[in-house]
Amino acid sequence: MKLFAHRGLSSIFPENTLAAFRACTDHGVNWIETDVNILGDGTVVVIHDSHLERTTNASGSIYNLTAADLDYIDAGAWFSTEMAGERVPTLAELIQLMNQTGLNANIEIKSNEQGAARTRELMSGVLRELEALRPEREVIISSFNHLILAELKRLAPQYRVAALMTKEMMGADWRSVLELIGAETIHLESRGLTENHVKKVKDAGFAINVWTVNEGERASQLKNWGVDGVISDYAHAFRELEHS
Ligand code: G3P
Ligand code: MG
Repeated sequence: MKLFAHRGLSSIFPENTLAAFRACTDHGVNWIETDVNILGDGTVVVIHDSHLERTTNASGSIYNLTAADLDYIDAGAWFSTEMAGERVPTLAELIQLMNQTGLNANIEIKSNEQGAARTRELMSGVLRELEALRPEREVIISSFNHLILAELKRLAPQYRVAALMTKEMMGADWRSVLELIGAETIHLESRGLTENHVKKVKDAGFAINVWTVNEGERASQLKNWGVDGVISDYAHAFRELEHS
């Protein structure tokens, strides 16, 4: 079973920073999950929220920023004094790190609150940056925005895509949604997920990765049900589930 470090090793490092991603290689975790969005000047950055308050020392919307502003924003000090100086990485910097370290990534495209044109700009920016990825590095692109995923898959069918869904979203049409996107994989929320859901997905021929799984017992149950991967803040603690 694959183990994805959710936002990097986010239980012991500040989420979505290069420190949190670099720590994965030290702990033998070779897949990360990360979130991307776009600054006002079109730079694609690695950050979960569209506002800076929760994970940096700055405030306001990321949509008002340019790449130069990143030099003045600290994304580590909120977590611990040792982590002060960590930056909000650009996707280009993360891809450089993937090439250097051998990390593979699930890149989650966040829907842009400013509308479709900006979400499309983000998707194109992700594809543009991925051109620098070494061919041996693996990538899965996911999103709750299934329309943008379908568009991305049409433009760049070489990338694996995963539709993010909650159990509630997994209605009668889940299979045709995946097929219309061209998705090979579904990323489902762990809450309320049963063996029957997993069986349905596997019987239909799709891979399934589950988020966010922070208890070892739940991770091993999901593995026994045939889940392909779990996305966890504690991926480093579940290493024995990877190969056994
Ligand atoms: O990609 C799985 C998970 O990360 C989705 O939720 O809010 O943590 O990005 P969130
Ligand atoms: Mg995410």
